Amino acid sequence: MSKLYTVIKVARFYWDAITPYQVHSPFFYAFIKEVAFNNKHYYIFDKIEHLKNHLKQNHELIEVKDFGAGSKVNDSNKRSISSILTSAAIPHNKAKVLFHLVRHFGCKQILELGTNLGIGTSYLASPSSQSQVTSIEGCPNIFKLATHNLNQFGFNNIRLINDEFSNAIENLVSENAVFDLIFIDGNHSYDATWKYYSLLKSCHSNNAIIVIDDIFWSKGMNEVWQKIRSQKEVAASIEMFDLGIIMMDKNTPKKHFSLVPYLWKPWKIGLFPK
Ligand SMILES: C[S@@+](CC[C@H](N)C(=O)[O-])C[C@H]1O[C@@H](n2cnc3c(N)ncnc32)[C@H](O)[C@@H]1O
Repeated sequence: MSKLYTVIKVARFYWDAITPYQVHSPFFYAFIKEVAFNNKHYYIFDKIEHLKNHLKQNHELIEVKDFGAGSKVNDSNKRSISSILTSAAIPHNKAKVLFHLVRHFGCKQILELGTNLGIGTSYLASPSSQSQVTSIEGCPNIFKLATHNLNQFGFNNIRLINDEFSNAIENLVSENAVFDLIFIDGNHSYDATWKYYSLLKSCHSNNAIIVIDDIFWSKGMNEVWQKIRSQKEVAASIEMFDLGIIMMDKNTPKKHFSLVPYLWKPWKIGLFPK
């Protein structure tokens, strides 16, 4: 049921999606060129991908504490580092979108729900040493590994918190923390995602960008993504396959769209209205 639902939703995404040729607003044209399909290579990408390759060879077993909607591929509480990496760490094509969001929009205060091994955290912290990344991970052993991995890069703009997401968010709210980029990447269920979105309302800036991963992961994830993007406070939303991006800034052109590279729909050269 869940698989069939996902297939239908992905087919619908593809059918509705536009290509860069069909985007005319200067704001979104810049977004596409600088963020969505920016292929410039940065040295730090090699370093992070090198760390990933190294972790992929590590078959040491560690005890993991699973929270809510956990891994779809493994129910055991002992997992190898290599399987944690391959099942949960963000792939490069999505991680570089995070990197370019921070760089292009000059995000200064960044929050990540779900550190895992610190791969997404590294991409978020790399564009500017002036930014501050706060990242939350509930599992103590995964947290230890992430701390070790991130120390290797020598970042001094990352704060790691070992706590359950809701507790950690409540603490951040009581510290009056304000974030301009939030990446929600853990506990993929309707209820949990809606709860985090609601709790985070009091700690994001007026022009915040919120990124939700795995929006086609399950029926619940797709429904909560559709609900969030239709909230009145959301100015614009973009679906880039399973990455959902919303923009809260009221000055953003009001637009909700799904985006694929030109090569996925080569006949869409923007000559005809949709
Ligand atoms: C998909 S992984 C995150 C991947 C990471 N953001 C990246 O870019 O590589 C999700 C992580 O969130 C953690 N997690 C899930 N639910 C949680 C919760 N309710 N509280 C704290 N941590 C949680 C898991 O232990 C897991 O390591």
